[in-house]
Amino acid sequence: MAKNRIKGDTRIPQHIAIIMDGNGRWAKKRLMPRSFGHKMGMERMIGLMERAFDIGVPYITVYALSTENLKRPEAELNGLYDLIRNHFEKYMDRLCQKGVRLRVIGETHLLPQDVQEILRRSEKKTESYEGKGINIALCYGSRAELVRATNLAVERGEKVTEESLSSLLYTAGQPDPDLLIRTGKEVRLSNFLLWQAAYAELFFSNKMFPEFTDKDLEKAIVWFSGRARRFGKTDEQLAQ
Ligand code: FPP
Repeated sequence: MAKNRIKGDTRIPQHIAIIMDGNGRWAKKRLMPRSFGHKMGMERMIGLMERAFDIGVPYITVYALSTENLKRPEAELNGLYDLIRNHFEKYMDRLCQKGVRLRVIGETHLLPQDVQEILRRSEKKTESYEGKGINIALCYGSRAELVRATNLAVERGEKVTEESLSSLLYTAGQPDPDLLIRTGKEVRLSNFLLWQAAYAELFFSNKMFPEFTDKDLEKAIVWFSGRARRFGKTDEQLAQ
């Protein structure tokens, strides 16, 4: 029988962020087109989200397309848009039926019109749900998000505080990610959730995203559970 890594005393992250890197390299190694890697990546993304919700993780944010990724060849971008056109809605309907709120975050106005409509329709179906959420970052960049939030505060004539700025980000009202996972061997944040992940534990995996299994996710959660989170305090202060 498969070993259940998540025990009763495992500390469950309240928000997992994932940089889903390595689809292209995974496909190339198998002499397949990059678009095949993205398709397998999308299926893995759904699988991991299902497992994470089963474990009790309430919020998940995934990096599906950065603003910089928009410079990729048109054929690759069209492949990603086709994945959304052909599969996104049915996957999200299935996933969100358990009361999960979907948000698509980023400069989505840069996407083709029909793709924007599919995303908006899927979001709308979940807008009454609270407490559990998926954020899909598309055409996303963290610096742009911070500039947008700052400009909103300026327009309102508000003085910026940490709380007010957080409340103007796409992730307003959600707990900050406490575990950030990046697959694909790279060890950087690539302009992803720079503000929100200020205290996140960072878990880097050498696996390419399509081969990052549910068991790997469980291992990352168990690793997270074993980390001492001090938020700048000493062990003695925390013990009190
Ligand atoms: C980066 O790795 C990944 C992406 C640019 C796309 C990630 C997309 C998915 C996992 C699935 C699609 C999900 C939606 C919602 C459309 P890479 O492909 O650049 O890999 P590489 O670093 O090996 O070239």
